[in-house]
Amino acid sequence: MIDLHINPSFSLNGNIQVPGDKSISHRSILIGALGDGISMVAGFLPGSDCLATLSCLRSLGVEIVESEENLIIRGVGMYGLKRPNSSLNCVRSGTTMRLLTGLLSAQLFESTLEGDEQLLRRPMRRVTEPLGLMGALIHTNDGHAPIDIIGTPLHGIEYAMPIASAQVKSALLLAGLYADDSTTIHQPGPTRDHTERMLNMMGASVLTDGSTIQIYPCEKLSPLSSDEGSIYRVPGDISSAAFPLVAALLVTGSRITIENVGINPTRTGLLDVLTQMGAKISLTSLNDDISSQIGEPVSMVTVENSELKGIEIKGDVVVRMIDEFPILAVAATQAHGTTIVHDAEELRVKETDRIAAIVLELKKLGANIEALPDGFIVEGPTPLRSSVVDSHNDHRLAMALSVAGLITSGEVIVNNVDWIGDSFPGYISLMQKLGAQYT
Ligand code: S3P
Repeated sequence: MIDLHINPSFSLNGNIQVPGDKSISHRSILIGALGDGISMVAGFLPGSDCLATLSCLRSLGVEIVESEENLIIRGVGMYGLKRPNSSLNCVRSGTTMRLLTGLLSAQLFESTLEGDEQLLRRPMRRVTEPLGLMGALIHTNDGHAPIDIIGTPLHGIEYAMPIASAQVKSALLLAGLYADDSTTIHQPGPTRDHTERMLNMMGASVLTDGSTIQIYPCEKLSPLSSDEGSIYRVPGDISSAAFPLVAALLVTGSRITIENVGINPTRTGLLDVLTQMGAKISLTSLNDDISSQIGEPVSMVTVENSELKGIEIKGDVVVRMIDEFPILAVAATQAHGTTIVHDAEELRVKETDRIAAIVLELKKLGANIEALPDGFIVEGPTPLRSSVVDSHNDHRLAMALSVAGLITSGEVIVNNVDWIGDSFPGYISLMQKLGAQYT
């Protein structure tokens, strides 16, 4: 287990690129595999979550070649997946497990999905229940993995999702591709729409009307690259950009630019909230060709050290920044006044209970933060102090605490930061390049 030592840092500066978007990387290979022909993907995130998806797809008979710059996916078409020889290991990746549950429910063979202990604790009934309504034959361990699936023909349904989850929606959309009729999904609020964008680009028919999505059965998908020979370029992950971005906001004298960041509006809640808190963030639109080629908006994000004020965060914006609450909590410790987060109970079933974990660890650093059933409340600004904190085996917790360590009065040690590689390989050296005192 690796521990990260952090010392107070003065002024972060420079231009950086963050690794490819995790959600889009998963989908690029999983959906690309269903295309008729070769898809070429650049900027795929080589984090362990996405590598879990890659390895599962190979076990399902999809040939994926890793060249220096691209992934080459030899699409097997919608009906070309093969029965795996053994159970598919999703490691710690909820996205891999939930999306594959949807897809495999409709393949006419048996399969089993398993994962690490952390993933076995996460709720799966949210996908297996609606898939069951479509006729899927799935067995779980009381709503948890391992998930045994006997693929079978599915029916279209109309379903109101009780929780706003892109993973659940995507599982149903993938199953809906194979159903006998259209499937309509009502979401309690908008969730990230990468699956819809990608499927539509590949020739499926997915209609969105506010928070309602309708997908029609489909016989054939084209490859992911829009024109013959073109490359699908995964944009940088805004959820990864969030860490250097907040670091620059908090460390005196900082100014950084993050190039090539995906700014899909279903993902930019943190930018909206921080701007409302007083953050100086500016966006410069990038190459429209790339944006239109991948059907996702991309931008350059510049941020400088700013004075923040506390605000209330609740409602639809919560889902648009669901992975950013650990780092938002760190920013809130330095904001003047009260920051209060509501409607974020989903944080309790992420890689760890992120409400309990961030409150416990930031308190060790001297933050004035308390947990709420559906969020947390922070009073600021509070000077943070030297301490030893723990990642709770959660990549985003590890990175959020490593940012807090930059503005403390003395050394902070974050235990067990190995997990950062789940979403942000190269994080430590990238932050060092900006001037962060990490050893
Ligand atoms: C993801 C959706 C979100 C997010 C996760 C990735 C996706 O989860 O927290 O990191 O790729 O669809 P939920 O949809 O379960 O909220």
